[in-house]
Amino acid sequence: MKSRKKIYEGKAKILYKGPEPNTLIQYFKDDATAFNNKKKAQIPGKGVLNNFISELLMTRLKDINIPNHFVKRINMREQLIRKLEIIPIEIVVRNIATGSLVKRLGIKEGKVLSRPIIEFYLKNDKLDDPIISEEHIIAFEWALPNELEEIISLSYRINDFLTGYFFSLNIRLVDFKLEYGRLWKNDEVSIILADEISPDNCRLWDLKTNKKLDKDRFRQDLGEVDKAYKEVAYRLGVLSESEFKKVIKSDL
Ligand code: TMP
Repeated sequence: MKSRKKIYEGKAKILYKGPEPNTLIQYFKDDATAFNNKKKAQIPGKGVLNNFISELLMTRLKDINIPNHFVKRINMREQLIRKLEIIPIEIVVRNIATGSLVKRLGIKEGKVLSRPIIEFYLKNDKLDDPIISEEHIIAFEWALPNELEEIISLSYRINDFLTGYFFSLNIRLVDFKLEYGRLWKNDEVSIILADEISPDNCRLWDLKTNKKLDKDRFRQDLGEVDKAYKEVAYRLGVLSESEFKKVIKSDL
């Protein structure tokens, strides 16, 4: 690989300096982590699949005017993105009760919620990403009130769109996590969707069987993690089985 300046390395991705000052290159690793890095493994090919899946979903969101950082896919594992000032909050949108919601509040697993729920978590690994309220976000100035309003409105629109999109592929969008950043143009700031949208940060259940097609297969040791990610990629039409096999052979 060409030598490049590494800007940041996260659990699943690396950010390199981009070709222009306001850009970065986002590299998708095969590393999987859960429970704040306590559980770790490599899922061969995951990075390639997430790169393609996120490219497709970010492009579709751009088509409906949801501003996001994706510019273009560069190769099998990398995409060019716009450099943003990341807002240190994780936004979780839930349609069906599972995961930490069920544990924290004792809600019945699998309950279809009467309306989507948005939750906020502080992006802070040392504190284990604690859940926070809108009051915390405003009081500690992690986002301004108008920025938070925009984040909530965009998150509902993204949920509505992605729910329908996945539904058409016989997949239930159970919940997912989003991140946003600020883009400065002269003195004006806009809120832009960042990060990735993939089976790493979405819960996706097969509509008929409720089979898990996402990172819960890794978190819960359900096996066939790579197969589930491939299934999502095939249903989305981003990578055929033969194309994927070719990629992985040349990659390893
Ligand atoms: P949770 O039920 O564990 O709170 O997860 C809610 C959603 O957020 C689920 O789709 C997985 C995703 N998520 C992440 O992307 N990163 C994280 O660190 C956590 C805890 C959840």
